[in-house]
Amino acid sequence: MKILLGTNNDGKLREMRAILASLPAELVSPAELGLDIYVEEEGSTYSENATLKAGAYSRASGLITLADDSGLAVDCLRGEPGVYSKRYLPRPDATDAERRAYLLQKLSDKPRPWRAHFHCTVAVVVPGGTVRLFDGDCFGEVIPEERGQNGFGYDPIFLLRDINRTMAELSMEEKNHVSHRARALRAAYPALVRLIDEGS
Ligand code: IMP
Repeated sequence: MKILLGTNNDGKLREMRAILASLPAELVSPAELGLDIYVEEEGSTYSENATLKAGAYSRASGLITLADDSGLAVDCLRGEPGVYSKRYLPRPDATDAERRAYLLQKLSDKPRPWRAHFHCTVAVVVPGGTVRLFDGDCFGEVIPEERGQNGFGYDPIFLLRDINRTMAELSMEEKNHVSHRARALRAAYPALVRLIDEGS
């Protein structure tokens, strides 16, 4: 059985493939199916956007599809950028580095520590059927200097306080033990196994 990972974000795709590697199913990406669709994230919650993405990819492919919506919420910015993390800088061509710089500029007059957490909601959609949602969080702190080369997005400025390393200083294997996405995917795992059993 094939399960579609409904994302065009290479960083997310790599992490999802690694976390779900032991599923008894073939994990495929939109590109591998020749699917070139862009889903507008017009929802105001992670759940709405994850459902929109998984639903669109599932309709286009006819496959059981998993998609996530995720973001970084900073306490002293009342949860910003949150669900808008990807669009924090409204320019469509903005880079991850520019978004990190923009966030740091917004934080520059706020007292530290800049407590924050990543959140991820995973939606699992069965074609013509159910939607199931799973959540995961990872708590830490935004720091003003970039550290580490791994990961993507806000990883270089997100510090895991108890180990004093940024998310970008972790190997993918280490990140996949602690990340919001890993926690949400691990919560989804038993439901995915059941769907695969039912379909095979
Ligand atoms: P979306 O889920 O496609 O809306 O994108 C979420 C955005 O949040 C990404 O483009 C990143 O900027 C940020 N983000 C989500 N998860 C992570 C992560 O694991 N590391 C760093 N940034 C992340």
